[in-house]
Formats: sequence, C-alpha cells, structure tokens
Amino acid sequence: MVDVILGLQWGDEGKGKIVDFFAKDYDVIARFQGGPNAGHTLYVGDKKIVLHQVPSGIFHEDKINLIGNGVVLDAITLKKECASIAAFGVDYKKNLFISERTHLILPTHRALDKASEISKGNDKIGSTLKGIGPAYMDKTGRNGLRVGDLLNKNFKSQYIELRTKHQRILDNFNFQEDITAGEAEFFEALEFLKEFKIVNGEYFINDKISSGKKLLAEGAQGSMLDVDFGTFPFVTSSNTISAGVCSGLGIAPQKIKEVIGITKAYCTRVGSGPFPTELNDETGEFLRKTGNEFGSTTGRPRRCGWIDLVALNFACMINGVTKIVMTKADILDGLQDLKVCNAYKIDGEEKNQVPFQMNRLEIECVYKQFAGWKKDITAVKDFQSMPTEMKTYIDYLNNYLKVPVKYISNGPGREQIVTI
Ligand code: GDP
Ligand code: IMO
Ligand code: MG
Repeated sequence: MVDVILGLQWGDEGKGKIVDFFAKDYDVIARFQGGPNAGHTLYVGDKKIVLHQVPSGIFHEDKINLIGNGVVLDAITLKKECASIAAFGVDYKKNLFISERTHLILPTHRALDKASEISKGNDKIGSTLKGIGPAYMDKTGRNGLRVGDLLNKNFKSQYIELRTKHQRILDNFNFQEDITAGEAEFFEALEFLKEFKIVNGEYFINDKISSGKKLLAEGAQGSMLDVDFGTFPFVTSSNTISAGVCSGLGIAPQKIKEVIGITKAYCTRVGSGPFPTELNDETGEFLRKTGNEFGSTTGRPRRCGWIDLVALNFACMINGVTKIVMTKADILDGLQDLKVCNAYKIDGEEKNQVPFQMNRLEIECVYKQFAGWKKDITAVKDFQSMPTEMKTYIDYLNNYLKVPVKYISNGPGREQIVTI
C-alpha cells in the first residue's frame, strides 16, 4: 500500500514537516522526482534542518528511506547533506537506499543550467541552477549517466564523452567558465555515493509492498511546477504530480491509496512565472515577513499572495487528492481580513479553470473576503478550540474543493499540527 504526500501550489508548502510528521505510520519513505532544487525543512527538537535529496523520514531511526529512479541526484550535495544529518547523531547509511536507475547530475549540468538561464535574459525561468533541467534533458535524450553506471569500469570514459558533448553546447552559449573546476570534488563525492546501498529500486519497493509494508512517497516542488500541468515554461523538469510516483518508483497505480495534498493557508512562489493572486503590497510584505518566506534552497524572497482556489481545484483534480493538509495557518493570525480567489476573470468573463499559458493572459482574480481570526493559534491542540472565523474559512475551502481539509499546521514545530 502506498500513500503520497505532495505540494498543491508552487512548492514550499511544508512537505518536509508534514512527511516527518506522518513518517511514524509508514515503513518506507521514498522520493520519486526532483533533486537538490528541493529544500524541505524540518525540526528535530528545536533544531532546524533543510533536506534536499534525502527523504524526510531519515530522522526516524527504524524507517527505510529510498531515493527513487525518478530523482536526479547530485552527489556533491548529498555528501554535504549527509554531513548535516550526521550532526544529529543519525546513522544515515543504515537506512538510506538509492535506486541504481537514478540519474546523476554532473557539474556540467549546473553549467548548462546557468548558461541557459543567462541566454533567456528577462524570460529566465528563475531556476535554482542546480542542473535539474539539463539532467532530465539527458535522461529523456538518452544520454544520462545513472547511479548504477558508477559500478562500471568504463564510467570515467562515459563521463568524459558526455562532458565533451556538454562543452560543445556550452561553447554555443559562449559560456566561458572552466567546467573541469569542480571535477575533483565531484569524483570524491561519487566515491562517497558508492558506499550507499545501491539497489534495484523497483523490486526493492514492490517486495516491501507485497510483504505488507507501508510506503509514503514524498513529492518535491508543487503541482503548479509540474512539467506537463504547471505554468509551462515556468516549471521544473519533472512530473511532480501523483502520476510521477508510478514512473518515479516503479509501482503500479492501483497500489496508491491516499493522496495527501498540502497547501499553505495563502500562496507563495519563488522564481519567475504567472501568479494570479500575487500581492505586491503591504499584505504581501506582511506574509513574507511573518511567514519568513525566503527560499530554503536559494534564500531568494518568495512572492506571496492569497490562496488560489482555481489552481488548487485543478491540482486536486490532476492528483486525485483525497485529503488536504493546510499549513502556515498561524501566519494569518494577525490579519484583519482574508481573501480567497474563487474565479479568474479573463476578457471580462469569469472562469473557474486554469487556462493554457496563463502568462499570455491578463487574469483578474475574483475574491471572496472573510473576517480574520486575529488570535494566536500556535498553541491550539484541537480543532474545537480553533477560532470560529477559521472554521468558516475551512468550510468554504471544503465546499469549493470537494476534498476535505483534514489537518491544520499551526507552526513549524513537529507537534504543531491539529487533526480535524
Ligand atoms: P517544503 O519545500 O514544502 O518542505 O517547504 P519549505 O521547507 O521550503 O518551506 C516551508 C517553511 O515553512 C519552512 O521554513 C517550515 O519550517 C515552515 N513551516 C511549515 N509548516 C509551518 C506552519 O504551519 N507554520 C509556520 N509558521 N511555519 C511552517
Ligand atoms: P520544494 O521541494 C519552490 C522553482 C524554481 C524555478 C522553477 C524551476 O522545496 O518545494 P529548477 O531548479 O527546477 O530548474 O527551477 O521551479 N522550484 C521550486 N520552487 N520549491 C521548490 O522545491 C522548487 N524547486 C524548483 O524557483 O521557478
Ligand atoms: Mg522548499
């Protein structure tokens, strides 16, 4: 049996915290897509850690964590990440498994990412520059190198062949940086990577499922950044939606049971691209400051706005969401009024569907206003004790989305979550 936790917006919904919270109920936690572009924050005691590629179940001693074939893996980042995990006294090597089919991010992928962004000028995606797009291009272009290839004697020559190809593309971009500069560190990190349990991920996972183990698939990024259904071209390069779990781990769709979608009580986006409910005013600034909305991976300020039910409804449909977790509800504590976008006005007409290429359209948001609760909810432990104004807000979301909000996260701490 497999459950999925994924983001319903443009990423940073609080997946790290929520996966860590639910991990106790599962045997295996697996990442199925994305790479070090992700930054998943969790608190162990009062200490904060940001995970990029390692699944957020790693702090539960008895749980297996798997980096699936759908991930693109950067060995250098992995090494650094593992060092910060080890500082918590966790023996990460014991419980972390890596699929042999997982594609490797090479230093030249990062260079290609940078060269591509520079060439786009004002139209840049706002990539995290971690080499994600180029690594997935090499996967679909059938050139990429995989973790299992590390065990081949001719890995080095395969690497040089691919690097030479990359150099030709970089020359076309007129990219001047020395691409061999980070190579020594890369090869050192590959030696570190080889020390992990490298497994045939699809048999590994299916054997676990057959023997009755419970699996939690951890999404990265968010549904609106999905390469097919997001705000293309301002997206990431993988399928972030629940369908990505099947191809990213090698499991059949019938095995998936719950799809737990996470939304913030408002909305954020980092990087370029359409964001209809964005607030370029003092409320936007309030959300950024109070919510500490700065990228976990790049430190960039996140763009902030009201919750967008048109986009959320779309994400619920595409993913088959069965339950919703609403995070960062406490950030709204200080607001007099709240708004939710329940339709887009395009060419004077109200629509409740996400259009093709939002970026080419003038979208005016239609809002419904709610009274804020103006109370500190960070210590509330049960839904009964939540303010009436919040219950009205949640009722409206439930009715609109036809998927119930089942949990409210009211602070970054592990225990700050209320079940409805
Ligand atoms: P992820 O990428 O989806 O895992 O999310 P990030 O870790 O990038 O960003 C979420 C941020 O919000 C982190 O700093 C979390 O510690 C924090 N966070 C998560 N849930 C809550 C919450 O309910 N309230 C508050 N105040 N912070 C939260
Ligand atoms: P988590 O898992 C928020 C955004 C980037 C950029 C676009 C493409 O922490 O939610 P890429 O590096 O993939 O080429 O960037 O996607 N992006 C994210 N935004 N959270 C993330 O991950 C993101 N991963 C990528 O800012 O706009
Ligand atoms: Mg993040």
